[in-house]
Amino acid sequence: MPEISRRTSSLGTENAFVVLAEVNALVAKGENVISFCIGQPDFVTPDNIREAGIRAIKNGKTGYTGSAGIPELREAVARELGRVRRLEISPDEVVIGAGAKPFIGYTILCVTDYGAGHEVIYPNPGFPIYESQIAAMGAVPVPLHLREDRKFAFDPQELADKISDNTRLLILNTPHNPTGGILTADDLAAIAEIVRAHDQVWVYADEIYSRLVYDGAFATITAIPDMRERTVIADGVSKTWAMTGWRIGYAANRALAPYFTKWVTNTESCAGHINQYAALEAVSGPQVDAEKMRHVFARRRQKIVALLNDVPGFHCLMPGGAFYVWPNVTEACQMTGIENSEELRKRLLYDAGVAVLADIHFGQRVPGEGQHIRFSYAASDEEIERGVERIADFMRKNRR
Ligand SMILES: Cc1ncc(COP(=O)(O)O)c(C=O)c1O
Repeated sequence: MPEISRRTSSLGTENAFVVLAEVNALVAKGENVISFCIGQPDFVTPDNIREAGIRAIKNGKTGYTGSAGIPELREAVARELGRVRRLEISPDEVVIGAGAKPFIGYTILCVTDYGAGHEVIYPNPGFPIYESQIAAMGAVPVPLHLREDRKFAFDPQELADKISDNTRLLILNTPHNPTGGILTADDLAAIAEIVRAHDQVWVYADEIYSRLVYDGAFATITAIPDMRERTVIADGVSKTWAMTGWRIGYAANRALAPYFTKWVTNTESCAGHINQYAALEAVSGPQVDAEKMRHVFARRRQKIVALLNDVPGFHCLMPGGAFYVWPNVTEACQMTGIENSEELRKRLLYDAGVAVLADIHFGQRVPGEGQHIRFSYAASDEEIERGVERIADFMRKNRR
C-alpha cells in the first residue's frame, strides 16, 4: 500500500472523544455510567437562536457566503468581542469559521514555516489540539508548564526562559481548559513585558470561555495597547450559547484576517450559512439564557469543588472560569495503591461507573506537580452528587 505521510501519522487527537467511545460501549452493554468527560454545555441551544436557524432555512439562506462570513455577523461579532474586552474592533478584522478550533491551525500556518525550526509555546496541560497542530504543521512544540501553586497559571520566569529568537507564536488560553484557571491582569502584564522584547512573536489568545468567568472580570492581553496588533483573539458561540454542534467560531486580527479568509477559501469555503444566522441571533439577541447558563455553571462549580474536597485523597482548587475542575489525586492514588491518574481514571470508569479524563490526555504530566484528573461539570446537580458519591464509595472500598 502507498505510505501515509509523517505529518498525518504524527497527528494527535482529542482523547475526550476516545474515552467517550469507551463510555458509549459500556452504555450499549447496559452499564450505568455518569460522564464528566465532554467539554460542552449540557443544555440545548436557546429557543430564540434555534428559531433564527429555522428562519434562515425558510428564507432560503442555503448558498455559499463570502469566506470571511456574512457582513451582519462580522459586524455583530466585532461589537461583541469589543464589548467584552472594552476595545474598538472593526468588522474587517473579524473572520468567521467552522468553530474556533480551525483558527488554531490557520494561525500556526500563517506565522510558522514547515521544518524551519519555528517554535510555538503553548500551555501544558492544555487543549490537546495545540500540540497536535503545532507538530503537524512542522513547527516545534514548546510546552509551558502550569502550576498548582499559581492556581494553574504559569511562572512568567519559565516563559522568559523558553522564549527565543526561534519563537514565532505564544498560545494563551484563559479561562483555561482543562484546569479552569484564569490569567489575571497582573499575569498578562508580566507576559506582555516578556513578549515585548521579541518583535517576531505573535500571540494567539484562545478566549473561547471569555464569558464564563466567575470571580472578577475577564482579563485579556489585548487590553494592553501594544499587544493588540500582534494578538489573534479567538472566540466563538460553542460554549457561551450552548452551540457546539452549529460549528461557528471567529478570530480577530487586522493583519491576519485576509490570510485567515484565504485559508477558509482553501478549506471549508465558508462557515454554514444557516448557522451564521443562528450565531447572529446568539451574539446580538437577548442574553437571558446565556446568563442563566452561566449562573448554573457558577453554582455547580461551588458544589463539585465542595463535594470533591470531601473525597479522601482528593484536593481540588476553586477554578476561576470555564466548566472544568482539575483535582489533584496524587494522594488518592497512594491511598489505593493505584499507579497513576490514568489507572485511576480506568478504575473509576470500570469499577465505579464514573467517566473522567486523566491529565495525560492534555499533554505530558508536569514534573513535580503530581497526578490530576479532569471533570467537566457541564452535568446536572444530580449527576454531580451521584457521580462524586460513587467516587467516595470507591475510595472507601479500595483504601489500603
Ligand atoms: C480551549 C479551547 N479552544 C477551542 C475549542 C474549540 O471550540 P469550537 O467548538 O468553537 O471549535 C475548545 C473546545 O473544547 C476549547 O476547549
